[in-house]
Amino acid sequence: MKLLVTGAGGMLGQEVVGAARRNGHGVVALVRAELDVTRTDALRRRFDTERPDAVVNCAAYTNVDGAEEERTAAFEVNGWAPGAVAAAAAEVGASVLHISSDYVFDGGKREPYVESDVPAPLSAYGESKLAGEAPTIEANPRHFMVRSAWLFGPGGPNFVETILRLGGERDEVRVVDDQTGSPTFCVDLAEALVALIATEDYGIHHVAGGGAGSWAQLAAETFRGAEVDCRVTPITTAEMNRPAPRPAYSALDSERPDTPHLRPWPQGLAAYLASRTERQGVAG
Ligand SMILES: NC(=O)c1ccc[n+]([C@@H]2O[C@H](COP(=O)([O-])OP(=O)(O)OC[C@H]3O[C@@H](n4cnc5c(N)ncnc54)[C@H](OP(=O)(O)O)[C@@H]3O)[C@@H](O)[C@H]2O)c1
Repeated sequence: MKLLVTGAGGMLGQEVVGAARRNGHGVVALVRAELDVTRTDALRRRFDTERPDAVVNCAAYTNVDGAEEERTAAFEVNGWAPGAVAAAAAEVGASVLHISSDYVFDGGKREPYVESDVPAPLSAYGESKLAGEAPTIEANPRHFMVRSAWLFGPGGPNFVETILRLGGERDEVRVVDDQTGSPTFCVDLAEALVALIATEDYGIHHVAGGGAGSWAQLAAETFRGAEVDCRVTPITTAEMNRPAPRPAYSALDSERPDTPHLRPWPQGLAAYLASRTERQGVAG
């Protein structure tokens, strides 16, 4: 297949490009400077020139706290553009795979959210991501709407990298323990997305690291795996006082038999830490 990836410079975008190439697909990888997804004419022209079989839209506004102040920017990229990408893909006969988020849910459940659960976002970011879902689904019948969560990987800033940096500087870190989610290794997710796009299993899919954990558990498991001697002190969300509200519980699971399942998140984390050590060895 020929895949066109938007937002290809982002943390997930880079991994989707890598996974697609490893799996023998042709890839047109477009970073923001090469294709701004908010520019409909540019989208249509580029898709018409490239004639992809499928478009993977990894472009997004991802600053969860920033979105509270920059609602317009968040809604333009996350709410409005995905429908335009999906429509432009449909015009050239391409399917579309879009990435949405666990933050479309309000966190009131105490067991993993499945595809049929009703979204009710708490934050501007969550609202903007939800706003992108329906127009994408409506604009292109051949759509994959994949909700994922708590991404970490080599290609961008993320919680695991932040906590490793802090762990190298301090004896103790204070980490939120009353938010539970599905930590997800980007490489695992990218492989699953590339497998999914080769199917006709359209619709909404929840794809995230298996199981559930809190940020404090993720921090502790990161230190354990990376052999960093740093204490994790659990704190509450209220103590963090961040601008955007976050769901207290947003672990994801799938109720669909055709959704790819990822390995349990501690195994994904171990794979990430091992690949990180390998890269540092090569760089050193
Ligand atoms: N990170 C997470 O924990 C998480 C959790 C759940 C879902 N997701 C979803 O997963 C997807 C990928 O996230 P990520 O973590 O890879 O984010 P990321 O690293 O921030 O990547 C997003 C990319 O989109 C680009 N972009 C922004 N505005 C654009 C525009 N108008 N046109 C084209 N490209 C644009 C960004 O470029 P610049 O850097 O130049 O702005 C960046 O390269 C997003 O849809 C996100 O909502 C992420």
